[in-house]
Amino acid sequence: MFDAVKEFAARHRPGSAVGSPAAPAPAPAPAPAQNAAAAEVAARPAAAVVSIAGPTAAADAKHMARALALAAKGINSTHPNPRVGCVVVAGGAVVGEGWHRAAGGEHAEIAALRQAGKRAAGATLYSNLEPCSHHGRTPPCADAVIAAGIGRAVIAMYDPNPRVDGVGALRRAGVEVTVGVGARAAAQLNRGFCARFSVGRPWVTLKMAASLDGKTALADGRSQWITGPAARRDAHRLRAASSAILTGIGTVLRDDPRLTVRLGARRDGKLATGRQPLRVILDSHLSTPPRAKILRAPGNALLITTAAEAAAIGLLRGPGVEVLVCRAAGRRIDLAQVMRELAAREVNDLLVEAGPQLSGELLRQGLVDQVVVYLAPDLLGGGGAREMFDLPGLESLDDRHRLQFADLRRVGRDLRLTLDVAGGDSAGESVGAAGAAGAATVADPAQPPRN
Ligand SMILES: NC(=O)c1ccc[n+]([C@@H]2O[C@H](COP(=O)([O-])OP(=O)(O)OC[C@H]3O[C@@H](n4cnc5c(N)ncnc54)[C@H](OP(=O)(O)O)[C@@H]3O)[C@@H](O)[C@H]2O)c1
Repeated sequence: MFDAVKEFAARHRPGSAVGSPAAPAPAPAPAPAQNAAAAEVAARPAAAVVSIAGPTAAADAKHMARALALAAKGINSTHPNPRVGCVVVAGGAVVGEGWHRAAGGEHAEIAALRQAGKRAAGATLYSNLEPCSHHGRTPPCADAVIAAGIGRAVIAMYDPNPRVDGVGALRRAGVEVTVGVGARAAAQLNRGFCARFSVGRPWVTLKMAASLDGKTALADGRSQWITGPAARRDAHRLRAASSAILTGIGTVLRDDPRLTVRLGARRDGKLATGRQPLRVILDSHLSTPPRAKILRAPGNALLITTAAEAAAIGLLRGPGVEVLVCRAAGRRIDLAQVMRELAAREVNDLLVEAGPQLSGELLRQGLVDQVVVYLAPDLLGGGGAREMFDLPGLESLDDRHRLQFADLRRVGRDLRLTLDVAGGDSAGESVGAAGAAGAATVADPAQPPRN
């Protein structure tokens, strides 16, 4: 079983990220497994998932690492598609490389095969995801792989989309296929895509800025800015890699945030991401001011409410602004339904940037996979200053909400703590029974999702 403590200790030996100034944004791959299933796959002996050894295994690992690095280039742009990279190797030499840039664009395999040309015949193809075998926005890649005469395909993981059977198609055409090389890093890189298909909701990362004494706002609600510019820039990178950003009406009314990605402009004036994540606001009673920045900023917004009041909805709707009436759970919006709606809208990775009420409720209901805390070395004191999470008090320490440290690094004068909510030593204890039930675990990526 994956030992989170050992992993944590290993990553914090001298020379690791802690204490180093201005560490880079979270590396997409390879990275530690962030949930129980991915961790379990990672801990399995290599022989359990691939039956090759010696020089072939070393070459496979090397070329798959390259395919993963290519795939990671699409971290901000492939939404709602997965991040995929591909390498074609003939006679030990790389003859083609490609990565998927954006939905509707060329798939990684096609780009790599195009570069390889005739040298693809009899070559080995490496990809971090099973090639598609159905007509989606583009024709099936498996057909192109077969037509190019590829002799062997090395695939990190099966596609969790049940419509895809690229491995089967390749095998039926006589291509030798190995599945499982680099499965752990592959599942990590596309954890949102996997979560959407395996548990029917996005991968949820909850981000907070807090003082050393755990406060996220003063008693009057002011919270801008608790952390420094480097931490805020870093958080924009989290936004850029997300399909959507979720907040609550409390934050909208207090801060009037835009929740856009602002990574700086390119020479042509466009944002470096080229894509703005969907902004999602939970507002049961339609209290959002029609002129709120979150509705008017570039990109699209989705306001979710329980109030089916046509006149008020009409005032909020506009170009790029959708209002969705959702059912209530008690007095508030049903969060599980919100997650299903977002998955139906192909949201893979959801970043939550909300106050303690919504953050606490999501955590309590087991709808958070990872928490990222930017911790400032300052004290905000008491007097009603807000906590990180509004959670009910506990009667016993045994009932505490357990999280696991996954990463810790310095960003400017602040620290960035990354914590896994499920998947540590005791996933069942992480956020209580509801948490264990609701946790997004990525299905074993080295096993076919079909029977
Ligand atoms: N330090 C940080 O990182 C950070 C980040 C964001 C915000 N903040 C601060 O947090 C404060 C606002 O926090 P907040 O807790 O008042 O607001 P919030 O968590 O942003 O929003 C809470 C509101 O969301 C609505 N909601 C709808 N369905 C819900 C559900 N199922 N569960 C929970 N809430 C639901 C509720 O209002 P309705 O019932 O009216 O819909 C609720 O009052 C501000 O001071 C802001 O500056 C700090």
